[in-house]
Amino acid sequence: MIRVEFLANELGPAAGADAAPGDALVDVSDACRAPVSFSCRSASCGTCLVEVLEGAALLAPRKADESEVLDLFDAPPSQRLACAARLVAHGEGLVRLRWAGGDE
Ligand code: FES
Repeated sequence: MIRVEFLANELGPAAGADAAPGDALVDVSDACRAPVSFSCRSASCGTCLVEVLEGAALLAPRKADESEVLDLFDAPPSQRLACAARLVAHGEGLVRLRWAGGDE
């Protein structure tokens, strides 16, 4: 089991959920009503940008579509798209995230 926690921000209070390895981050976010804003949900707009504060190794590597958008935003390696990232297929631990889509 992987615990996924989202920090509070202007969108809402902190939220978290226990997730299974391989789960999509967007599904975990929806399930716990995380304070993350989504728009396209298909790795093209960057609205769901999140900063990975802990547990980056528990997220599967970026795929090409996610990398293209992150490159457009000059996102550092610590940032991911919540609509595109998945948890690794095997593992357990804690992933802590902060929505960064509202940053200028
Ligand atoms: S919601 Fe558009 S990139 Fe994730």
